[in-house]
Amino acid sequence: MSTHIGAEPGQIAPHVLMPGDPLRAKWIAETFLDDATCYSEVRGMLGYTGTFEGRPVSVQGSGMGLPSFSIYATELFNDYGVQSVVRVGSCGALSPDLAVRDVVIASGACTDSSMNRIRFEGLDYAPVADFDLLRRAYDAAQDQPVTSKVGLLLSSDSFYHPRPELTTRMAEYGVLAIEMEASALYTLAAKYGRQALAICTVSDHILTGEETTAVERQETFTHMVHIALAALPSA
Ligand code: HPA
Repeated sequence: MSTHIGAEPGQIAPHVLMPGDPLRAKWIAETFLDDATCYSEVRGMLGYTGTFEGRPVSVQGSGMGLPSFSIYATELFNDYGVQSVVRVGSCGALSPDLAVRDVVIASGACTDSSMNRIRFEGLDYAPVADFDLLRRAYDAAQDQPVTSKVGLLLSSDSFYHPRPELTTRMAEYGVLAIEMEASALYTLAAKYGRQALAICTVSDHILTGEETTAVERQETFTHMVHIALAALPSA
């Protein structure tokens, strides 16, 4: 096992979906995968491997925020040789062009976190999605009953943001929505030479205050998982 994941070598598939909520990982595995088994319960951050259309796929909870996400993504890439990760999460809309229940496919991720500032000694690295994953996700999204948009996320350290005027500034520069993990995923995938994509459903609208109901969130999450599974590489 690695420091935070209780799997033996070979128990995690080359392609992994990562929701923030470990119980979502359980639900995805039980709903979408065949023969899913749990490989890790360490700290309650559940991970499962099963098959989707005959190919092995894993689902690993990440927790919330760049630091938690980075622990699990680093161990997946570094200790288990994972080749591609698709984050399936939620986000708060910053753009008037988005409505709750829409899906954002993140071409790139800005951040207010210090993690990359420390990593790059003050240079501004631009964390971007893998193009092949992005293209397949975009194509798959056209077959789902949701509106999807491709664009930038803001990956924030703060859910309760102390400087809302700065998130407004990001929106003025075209950032679609705010969440808390994508920038870490894209940076770590680049470090390890692997593929990554973040897909997020809009759970709440920062401008209008509108929120989705639990039933709506579940439905939209289902469409998003279909998109994510279709995006995974076939080999
Ligand atoms: N902020 C950060 N992350 C989020 C939000 C938000 O408003 N909504 C869903 N994920």
